[in-house]
Amino acid sequence: MADTPRKTRSHEWFGKLDKDGFHHRSWMKNQGLPHHLFDGRPVIGICNTWSELTPCNAHFRTIAERVKRGVYEAGGFPLEFPVMSLGETLMRPTTMMFRNLVSMDVEESIRANPIDGVILLVGCDKTTPALLMGAASCDLPTLAISGGPMLNGRFRGEVIGSGTHVWKFDAMVRAGEMSLQDFMEAESCMSRSAGHCMTMGTASTMASMVEALGMGLPSNAAIPAVDSRRYVLAHMAGRRIVEMVREDLRMSKILTRAAFENAIRVNGAIGGSTNAVIHLLALAGRIGVELTLDDWDRIGHEVPCLVDLMPSGRFLMEDFYYAGGLPAVIRELGQAGLLHKDALTVNGRTLWDNCADAPCWNREVIHGIDAPFKQHGGIAVLRGNLAPDGAILKPSAASPALMRHRGRAVVFEDIDHYKARIDDPALDIDETCIMVLKNCGPRGYPGMAEVGNMALPKKILRKGITDMVRISDARMSGTAYGTVVLHVAPEAAVGGPLALVRDGDMIELDVAARRLHLDVPEAELTRRRAAWQPAVAPPPRGYAHLYHHHVMQADKGCDLDFLVGASGAAVPRESH
Ligand code: FES
Repeated sequence: MADTPRKTRSHEWFGKLDKDGFHHRSWMKNQGLPHHLFDGRPVIGICNTWSELTPCNAHFRTIAERVKRGVYEAGGFPLEFPVMSLGETLMRPTTMMFRNLVSMDVEESIRANPIDGVILLVGCDKTTPALLMGAASCDLPTLAISGGPMLNGRFRGEVIGSGTHVWKFDAMVRAGEMSLQDFMEAESCMSRSAGHCMTMGTASTMASMVEALGMGLPSNAAIPAVDSRRYVLAHMAGRRIVEMVREDLRMSKILTRAAFENAIRVNGAIGGSTNAVIHLLALAGRIGVELTLDDWDRIGHEVPCLVDLMPSGRFLMEDFYYAGGLPAVIRELGQAGLLHKDALTVNGRTLWDNCADAPCWNREVIHGIDAPFKQHGGIAVLRGNLAPDGAILKPSAASPALMRHRGRAVVFEDIDHYKARIDDPALDIDETCIMVLKNCGPRGYPGMAEVGNMALPKKILRKGITDMVRISDARMSGTAYGTVVLHVAPEAAVGGPLALVRDGDMIELDVAARRLHLDVPEAELTRRRAAWQPAVAPPPRGYAHLYHHHVMQADKGCDLDFLVGASGAAVPRESH
């Protein structure tokens, strides 16, 4: 009897008729796996972020079972494995701090094991970029499946959206327009099925990025988690990943510069989350594509927002799917010449092959490019002496009247200072002021928390004012809205100019001119800089220590500096 033919990576474990092969097969057989599964067929790793602490991904074991059916059907050998999961609603200080840790878990789990192709099960916000980044650093044939959005929330006859209505209801409670009892009742009305946030928040945005990048099958973004077609997609993905291994269709053949440019334009067309900026910059860094913060403005600037979804609009992901989903949006972009049509996708076809004939069933939800929902869907990249390395603003979520504004700074040194002061009746603030929050960046929080859309003071909300200019080095939840300048780089915690702002300074925001200016004489800024002391001490040990010393700034995607790039999937040395 001879070794099985050396065709697959997994052969190095399962194909040998010697002591090592015995080790690798025998212990696997304790799971009741028959011998023929070790005959050299493609081994498909199903990388699962299932966890009951990540409610958005709590249905993933069922999805994994459907993937396995497809893998077996196509002649592959599926093996499910867990990685650390990131539940947005529970983890502290923030899931973003752990995105890079999970990417390391994914990368090392894939490389260390007998895996020929990978299915990534992704859903809640950071699970998507974390798994894509880790897999990209290995560069095996890889296909991502999103878990799908929850069904529309419903509260007393009104359609309500994840996150977006939490901000709204919270502001209403603070303004005395909603009782606490009603607020509590809305909890169970908002999250009423399996799935991730069903607004166009970060999870839905990143699921759309998976599809736009070509890393998922068509319609991956919008099929609701509980719709039977989500299981069909998982089944078909299982079949397809086996073929991808046979075709050697690796991630680097799909994640090209063209794919990222397509994704940036799709992000504009869906009014996507600002978090996508950071995640795609980091992913590009892993796969070796040159992508900069300015590319987001340059490539996405002209793209109108086509979908009327919360937080910018009225509808939710369930409506988006029934209206045609992402393929209908991509078709609009392609017809307008805003797409690299020949970008390859995981199904072996181009993005345009997949979407050229995609129907739209509801023009209220998905607008045509000639009559867009909003004229500007892209991300504005701002610069100036307050953000030398850039800051961003999402025009589609901002108030037009505030896009050009000069105001007096009201400064919060960190999030605790903000919480202590915001509702102090003595706080000297009115609606023309600019709220400035420091020390919430990648190193400052740590993990760059989603606190940039800080709630307005009660005394201003009670006047019926719902938006003010806010500036910080933090991120903002994809479900949030407002005239919010985010990701200021360098952040305050590393001594960026944001650290030097004081109460009463005048700040100028001019989105059309892409300008963010602190109107303080340079000599005074130099004096303040000399007196600056870091507010955040390095953590003494553990992952937090590693993170603190190696995290890059927001304009570079917040990856750890030593993780940029890839190490491939060469088989590590035998240890027995
Ligand atoms: Fe998980 Fe929003 S909390 S996707």
